[in-house]
Amino acid sequence: MSPPMNLSAGSNGSNAPIWTQTPINTAEPSIARVYDAVLDGKDNFAVDREIARKFLQIPGANQMPWDNRAWLERVTRWLVGEGGIRQIIDLGSGLPTTSSIHEFAREVADDVRVAYVDNDPIVLAHGRALLAVDDNTTVITGDVCDDESIFANPELRGLIDLNEPFAVIVASVLHHLPDGEDQRIAAALRERLGPGCYLAFANFHDPGDPRAREIENALVEGGLGSGWMRPYPQHRMYFGDLDLVAPGLCPVNEWRPDDATRTDSPVHHLYIGGVGKRT
Ligand SMILES: C[S@@+](CC[C@H](N)C(=O)[O-])C[C@H]1O[C@@H](n2cnc3c(N)ncnc32)[C@H](O)[C@@H]1O
Repeated sequence: MSPPMNLSAGSNGSNAPIWTQTPINTAEPSIARVYDAVLDGKDNFAVDREIARKFLQIPGANQMPWDNRAWLERVTRWLVGEGGIRQIIDLGSGLPTTSSIHEFAREVADDVRVAYVDNDPIVLAHGRALLAVDDNTTVITGDVCDDESIFANPELRGLIDLNEPFAVIVASVLHHLPDGEDQRIAAALRERLGPGCYLAFANFHDPGDPRAREIENALVEGGLGSGWMRPYPQHRMYFGDLDLVAPGLCPVNEWRPDDATRTDSPVHHLYIGGVGKRT
């Protein structure tokens, strides 16, 4: 993997490109790079590909990240179109392996502002070049477990007016947080929402299908250490007192499917998502 060349100077005042200031540990797998590997991306290392291999050998598993990405695309279009949202915070945004949220959003309206947040330094390094494309997008490093710091970040505050409606998208992140921490973060994010704001989650789901345990084992025991499959009631609690946008919390491929949405996937029930609104 060659480093990106056109990165701006770091926020620490150094003129060195960000990638040279960013410690990227190639000996340990990273969630962002494993996800990049399962999506056929190029920004991953042997240690990441080994976990991706264990995941992808489970029948049907290769479809799951694509189902999640397609959900993200439909949700973003809906938020901007029917929801009228012009500000989006994408928490745990991941590497720009495929098209990104600002691109989906701008197919509907060209004035949407998007703040990408991730705790993996490789996302900042690559994102500066591919996600922070103009004055209406930014990429910041932040830990979703520390929502205080994220929502106080000057770059985020410079782009997102928290007094106006905004949407927070947290796709495929909570299943990487341990039990309890997932609910704490979901509750903290709900508290951030004023009237007219939205919160969207998609995560691995355990509907009692033995494949759910197989997938969880491939990730949690296979070297990544996270990737938990949780039953429906735990997912429902993420939305708390928010109003669920129709059709509610459901398999991602049943959330406002379009002509391209798969209906025959063997892993159909293993990924669920929804969108909640603060009215
Ligand atoms: C599976 S990827 C999902 C990427 C994208 N949201 C999507 O759904 O296509 C999960 C991302 O969440 C990030 N992540 C995991 N834990 C995080 C945390 N505590 N704070 C911020 N980002 C986190 C990872 O670095 C990774 O980029």
